[in-house]
Amino acid sequence: MKKLMEIDTVDLNDEESAVVIIDQTLLPGEVKMLNLKTAKEIWDAIYLLQVRGAPAIGVSAAFGLYVLSKGIASDEKEPEAFLKKLAETRDYLDSSRPTAVNLSWALKRMYAVAEKTVKETGSVEKAVEEMHRESIAIRDEDIEVCRKIGENGLALVKPGDGILTHCNAGKLAAVRYGTATAPIYLGHEKGYDFKVFCDETRPLLQGARLTAFELYESGVDTTLICDNMSALVMKKGWVNAVFVGCDRVAANGDAANKIGTSVVAAVAKQYNVPMYICAPTSTIDMASKTGDDIVIEERKPEEVTEMWYEKRMAPKGVKVFNPAFDVTDHSLIAGIVTEYGVARAPYTESLAEIFKKKEAGAVLK
Ligand code: MRU
Repeated sequence: MKKLMEIDTVDLNDEESAVVIIDQTLLPGEVKMLNLKTAKEIWDAIYLLQVRGAPAIGVSAAFGLYVLSKGIASDEKEPEAFLKKLAETRDYLDSSRPTAVNLSWALKRMYAVAEKTVKETGSVEKAVEEMHRESIAIRDEDIEVCRKIGENGLALVKPGDGILTHCNAGKLAAVRYGTATAPIYLGHEKGYDFKVFCDETRPLLQGARLTAFELYESGVDTTLICDNMSALVMKKGWVNAVFVGCDRVAANGDAANKIGTSVVAAVAKQYNVPMYICAPTSTIDMASKTGDDIVIEERKPEEVTEMWYEKRMAPKGVKVFNPAFDVTDHSLIAGIVTEYGVARAPYTESLAEIFKKKEAGAVLK
């Protein structure tokens, strides 16, 4: 049996026309792979968090739309009918979760390739071939981009530092490395001996079940804490930097990430600990001007009242508010670590610069 770190979080089995994922709802107890073949299976896997984390959702959607395009192409031989069905499937997958922009980013990119190929060649078959190539490119870029984020983030810390992270922006949230954990893994390879604190991350425990699991399994010095303990560990001086991932960064630097991230940011500000958001450019949405433009997903009350408990732990009928994300104000963020370098305030300018570099075809920095 392969170890978790040897398996890519998301993969393609082209022969079986399946998206292959690790079922993250079973971790850390069981490492089970799932083969997703139908649109409903892919939609459910994203909604139910069998695959989760912004980059991993994007890669799953890219592989998913490619796999489904093969079936659509065998039913719809006419280019227009093929594109119409493909667009419907794209919109269906896009409806699975609203906050992580990587989902719509990957689906748009995949559809654009199909549309362009059909326009240029008139061939549905060629469009499917090009979608295959694009989905592999999206996966490969994710690996490369996370590694660069790791290098850029590593330059912000030093050996022996304490690092706090919230939720899971780890290998399990991407294909390899992760975003917020990439500097940790790269530093670990170099013998940096970081002391990492993982917030457990109520209500779905991604920090306890996923981040603590993958870091601990990799041999990183890992300490799990409850969400309400971050102030204490920062006050004690045990944390030199906070690294978190994000689901969508607005043009002004406001960053939506797992619920509770903005509490960590406020506490970090109080104790003068720099808070870094690790974000591939695929997570930066320049069309959202500020965090107010970001749709925040609300999930089922049972995730708060019952899930993970042996018996319900809240009075029946009590009102529950269960937003899955919050927005950290840009004023609390010390830097946004991208594959093209670290953006600093004022973010409206520095993020625009990052995109200029990207559009000019700059090599990853
Ligand atoms: O609800 P989840 O588990 O998908 O939320 C994940 C997060 O909030 C991550 O921090 C974010 O997607 C960044 S992943 C590199």
